Amino acid sequence: MSKRPVTTKSDPETTGHEWDGIQEFNNPLPRWWLWTFYLTIIWAVGYTIAYPAWPLVSGATQGLLGQDTRADVAAEIQRYSEANAPVEAKLVAADLNAIAADPELANYTQNAGGAIFRTWCAQCHGSGAAGAAGYPNLLDNDWLWGGTMEDIHTTITHGIRNTEDPDARYSEMPKFGADGLLEPEQIDQVVQYVLQISGQEHEAALASEGAVVFTDNCAACHMEDGTGDRAQGAPNLTDAIWLYGGDQATLTETVTNARFGVMPSWTGRLSESDIRAVAAWVHSRGGGE
Ligand code: HEC
Ligand code: HEC
Repeated sequence: MSKRPVTTKSDPETTGHEWDGIQEFNNPLPRWWLWTFYLTIIWAVGYTIAYPAWPLVSGATQGLLGQDTRADVAAEIQRYSEANAPVEAKLVAADLNAIAADPELANYTQNAGGAIFRTWCAQCHGSGAAGAAGYPNLLDNDWLWGGTMEDIHTTITHGIRNTEDPDARYSEMPKFGADGLLEPEQIDQVVQYVLQISGQEHEAALASEGAVVFTDNCAACHMEDGTGDRAQGAPNLTDAIWLYGGDQATLTETVTNARFGVMPSWTGRLSESDIRAVAAWVHSRGGGE
């Protein structure tokens, strides 16, 4: 690299630019800089020849090396599914209640089930399965439709109140207000009663009227004592766990317009081994029975 101390030049060439009396010298770019620049141009040309690069009307140039990241991913997935085939076959053949006790299956369902859950279920049930309003928490011991392996497996296989699967779990709470089945004051009373049986602040006089309304209109599904009925997916109303909410306004809304929680069916979307893996994962999260 040649050093040219510009300050010693008697009459340095300038670019003609001047700011506040400061002139810009027209020195050549350093050689190392120029060569690096030329090298990047050569590299770029070589790269676009070797790899997919230039967009064309349909598609793009494919590059001489024939690299295809999509094919790489497909091959990798293929490799994994071949490696997993034996354990998946074992999982499908296993008794549902024997999965957790088999170390190989337990280990597989923990990993695969967790991944399946994060891909297909987390949008509704939350990434940690803790749920949200209208989407049940799957970590607690409170089950709408049951928490045994069989129950969970059935729920996931067929879904809930969807129109796509004839075997979907189904039940429908009446719209007591919207369909005029109860007068507004009866709704107020029964809401006070639900506040009472769930251990919240309530107006005792209204609640005792509400007890009668409850027996006549709600007990068939939520049971006489309000603890719910899993055969119908009718929630327990006496605990502090709410699917939609336990405050007066939300309860009034629920009784007036009812709720109709829908979960898709996973038959056909997930393989039987995937359904079993995610069922075992959900079952093991703490609330499984
Ligand atoms: C589109 C939203 C949605 C998706 C996606 C979804 N669920 Fe659900 N799931 C629901 C709703 C809503 C309910 C409650 C339905 C009701 O009110 O009875 C539910 C209920 C359940 C229940 C029953 C809980 C109980 O207390 O009995 C289980 C188990 C369950 N889901 C597991 C899964 C799994 C596993 C997946 C992924 C394969 C999944 N869900 C994907 C919406 C969804
Ligand atoms: C035909 C059965 C049926 C009857 C009758 C019925 N319910 Fe329900 N109820 C359900 C079902 C099923 C759900 C769950 C809906 C869902 O998951 O989307 C539910 C949900 C609820 C909830 C929401 C609970 C939560 O955790 O957020 C409340 C509150 C409730 N019912 C109160 C009542 C009251 C009060 C009455 C009587 C006035 C009544 N229900 C009558 C079936 C019934």
